[in-house]
Amino acid sequence: MEAHTLGRSSTSERVDVDKSGEQMNIVIVGHVDHGKSTVIGRLLADTGSLPDGKLDAVKAFCALNSRPFEYAFLLDALKDEQSQGITIDTARTFFKSSKRHYIVLDAPGHIEFLKNMVTGAARAEAALLVIDAKEGIRENSRRHGYLLSMLGIRQISVLVNKMDLVDYSQEVFNSIREEYTRFLARIDITPKFFIPISAFQGENMIGPSAKIPWYSGHSVLAAVDAFEKEPPKPHQPFRMPVQDVYKFTAMGDDRRIVAGRVESGSIKVGDEVLFLPSNKKSRIKSIEAFNEPIRSEVLSGYTPGFTLTEQVYINRGELMVKASEPQPSVSRLIRANIFWMGRKPLEMGRGYFLKLGTSKIPVRLKRINYLIDASDSLEKRDKANIERHDVADCVLELSRAIAFDAIADMEATGRFVIVDQYEIAGGGIIREALPDDQEDLRSEVAQREEKFERSAIVPEKRMQRLNQRPTLILITGEGSTDRKGVGKAIEEELFEMGRFAYYIGMANLLYSVDADLKDKGQSRAEHLRRLGEVAYLMLEAGLLLVVSARDLDDHDLKALETVIAPYPLLTVCMGGCKLDEGGEEVLYCPSGSQISQVVPQIIAKLQHMGSIFNP
Ligand code: GTP
Ligand code: MG
Repeated sequence: MEAHTLGRSSTSERVDVDKSGEQMNIVIVGHVDHGKSTVIGRLLADTGSLPDGKLDAVKAFCALNSRPFEYAFLLDALKDEQSQGITIDTARTFFKSSKRHYIVLDAPGHIEFLKNMVTGAARAEAALLVIDAKEGIRENSRRHGYLLSMLGIRQISVLVNKMDLVDYSQEVFNSIREEYTRFLARIDITPKFFIPISAFQGENMIGPSAKIPWYSGHSVLAAVDAFEKEPPKPHQPFRMPVQDVYKFTAMGDDRRIVAGRVESGSIKVGDEVLFLPSNKKSRIKSIEAFNEPIRSEVLSGYTPGFTLTEQVYINRGELMVKASEPQPSVSRLIRANIFWMGRKPLEMGRGYFLKLGTSKIPVRLKRINYLIDASDSLEKRDKANIERHDVADCVLELSRAIAFDAIADMEATGRFVIVDQYEIAGGGIIREALPDDQEDLRSEVAQREEKFERSAIVPEKRMQRLNQRPTLILITGEGSTDRKGVGKAIEEELFEMGRFAYYIGMANLLYSVDADLKDKGQSRAEHLRRLGEVAYLMLEAGLLLVVSARDLDDHDLKALETVIAPYPLLTVCMGGCKLDEGGEEVLYCPSGSQISQVVPQIIAKLQHMGSIFNP
C-alpha cells in the first residue's frame, strides 16, 4: 500500500512568485543555438526583471576573461539565486510585464525536458518557438512544433531570430513564415504571431524596432501579453483515479475510505458515483480529509478520501466519476500520439506497460498510422518500430480495458506514459477511443451492475473472514490435457489449506444454465458470458473458483475478465495452448506436466497475486 496523505496537495507548478497578480507558464522551444536563452535573457533585462547590477556584473566578468558576452551566461548566473528556497527545476526563469508574471521553461534541447513535458511533470499554457533567420527551419523547429501540438499547447508565437544576420530582410522573414505556417497547418496549429527579431541586439523585443520598419506587428513582450489565460475548469466532469482503498481500524469500524487525487471537477456528499471500468455504483457518504475541517464538497487539486453509502469492491486503478456527468471512454484500443524516449525502439507487438492515472496495464503497439522521425516528414512510412525521439500517431492495444478521456476533452485522464522494464520510455496523449471487441459485453455488465443488489456485508470484511481474495482460476488447454484432474486437485489442495474453493466443470453448465443453447459452436460467446456470470456470483460470495474449459483463446479470456471485473482471473494453460497473449495472469504448464508439479505452482501463483494470504 502506498503512502498517501489526505488533504490538499501542493503541486510544484504552483510557485508563488507574487501572491497577487496573474501568472502564466510559457515554454520556449526551437532548434539548438537558434537563440532561446538569448530571448529569455533579453526579456529579463529589458523588462527590469533582473536584480540590480546583475547584467553589468556578468558583462564585466566576460570582459575580464576575454569571452564574448552571452545571455545564456546571465541565465546560468541567475539559476542559483532564483531557485533559492523553492524547489523548481533549473530550466525555469521568471520575468514580469505590466500585465502579469511569467515562468519561462527553457527547453535545453535535451531529452529530460521533453520527458517532463510529455509526462505532464511540466506544464505550459503557451509557447514561443524560435527559428534562426539565417539557418532557417531545422529538425527541431518541426519536431518541437509537433510536440507542442501533442502536448495540447495551442497558443504559439514564432520568433524569427537573428534578423541582424540577414540584414533584416523582409524576404527571408516572409519565406520562413510561409514555409513554417504550412507545416503548422498540417499539425493543426495556427500561430498567433510571427515576429522578426534580433534577440541579441534587442530588436522587437519589448517595443517596435527602427531596424525593421516593414514590420508593424507585436513585439515579443506584447505577444506574450496577448496570450490568453486558460479559463479555469471547475465545470469539467469529476474525475478521480482511485489510489487506494483504506479501512478505518478504530474500534471495529468497518468503513472503507476510497482515496485519490481529484483531477478535475467537483463532488459533494450525496452524489452518485461510478467506478470504471468495473461499473460499480455507489454514493458519497462523507468526505474525509486529514487535519482539515469537515467539508461537504471537494474540487480538483484535492486528495480527499471518501466513504460510500453502499460498499462495493473496487481496486486501485479504477476511475471514479460522477454518474450524472459525461462519462469517460472505456476500451482496450486507443489511438494515441506517442513520443518515444527509450534507448530501445518501441516494437510492434512487444509487451510494455501503460500508466494512466493510477492504473498500470500491459500494452502493445498494434499499428503506426504515421510518424515523424529525424528526417522530419509526416508521411506514413513502413517502419515497424518507433525509434528514440520519434513522434508517432498510432494504435495501442491494452490487455484489459481502462477508463480514460480523449485529450481534447480532459487533460489529466488523457495523458499516459509507457514503461519499458521499469523505466519510463515514452509518453503520450490519447486522441480517441477505438471500439474494441468487448463493447456489447461491457454494456451488459453495466446493466447488471445497475440492478445488482449488494450484500450488506462489506466485501473486504468477507475477504478478511475467509482469508482469501475471490479469484477465478481457469484451467484450459488442448483436448488431451488433464484439465479436470488439475482443477479438482487444486480445489482439494485449497480446501485442505482451509480455503473456500469450489470446482466447476464445463459440463456442469452445458446441461444446466446452458441447456437452452442448442448449437454449441454458434453460441460460444453466449456460453462464455454465462460462465462469466455464474463465476461472478460465486466470486461475489467470496469463493476461490476453479473452472476447467477446453481450448479457450485470448478473446475468450478477455470476455471473462470483462464479466468478472474487478475480480482477478488466473489462467492455467496446460500444454499446447491457443493463447497468444493470455489474460493478465497466466501460468504456463508444458505438456506432460504432472498434477503434483502443477498444483504447487498454482498455489504459489495465487499467493503472489495476493489471492491467498498467510501461507
Ligand atoms: P541551446 O540552449 O544550446 O539550444 O541554444 P539557444 O537556443 O538557447 O541559443 P542561445 O541563446 O544560447 O544562442 C546561441 C548563439 O546565437 C549565441 O552565441 C548567441 O549569442 C547567438 N544569438 C542569439 N540571438 C542572436 C541574435 O539575435 N543575433 C545574433 N547575431 N546572434 C544571436
Ligand atoms: Mg539555451
